[in-house]
Amino acid sequence: MRHRGGLAAAVIILAVLFVAAFGVAHANISALPEPGAFETTLAMKARDWYIRRATRGVLPPAPTKTAASIATGRTLFGMDCASCHGQNGRTPAPIGKAMYPRVSSLGSHEVQQMSDRELFWVIKNGIRLSGMPGFAHIDNDEQIWQLTYYVHSLDVHTTVKPGKMYPGATSLKPTRQTGTGDLE
Ligand code: HEC
Repeated sequence: MRHRGGLAAAVIILAVLFVAAFGVAHANISALPEPGAFETTLAMKARDWYIRRATRGVLPPAPTKTAASIATGRTLFGMDCASCHGQNGRTPAPIGKAMYPRVSSLGSHEVQQMSDRELFWVIKNGIRLSGMPGFAHIDNDEQIWQLTYYVHSLDVHTTVKPGKMYPGATSLKPTRQTGTGDLE
């Protein structure tokens, strides 16, 4: 009896090893295929958990949110972020769509439900193994808060165009890829 149990365990272990070896041999690191639902869910859950944990500590003080700080965030966004996220932040640029994971709309519910603190942390530190750069050495903390405020102004349910909503921003032109849509 004990013998048979041992044999069954050996067969199961061999089967698991075989499946694992098959998986490794057939795995593909091409970024072309659409990321699978299972892989995406798993990666998102892990990402959210790490971000939540990282933002428990003290963050640099946030400046007051004003129309002017959002407008400055919009200009910075054009310089730093539009190349991947698109100028309107909602329509990813071709480069963003080719990344793995794909760049998603910053106006989506998933992004908009993140707190200011979480967005600040992501923009400052980036997300490892995803292509999202950390901007700690590119922008100062005040600028990162301004970018945070701009991202939070992109809610897809906002019916007013960002440029119209914040008059200070209307004269600004996108500096790179124009995602289209929101800008005249
Ligand atoms: C080189 C391309 C690239 C640039 C430039 C870039 N990002 Fe990202 N960003 C990404 C990718 C790819 C992701 C998706 C990461 C993920 O899903 O785990 C991402 C994710 C994010 C997220 C988290 C929400 C989400 O959809 O996963 C925020 C917020 C964000 N970016 C804001 C910004 C801001 C603000 C800037 C400019 C300061 C910026 N990004 C610049 C590629 C970029």
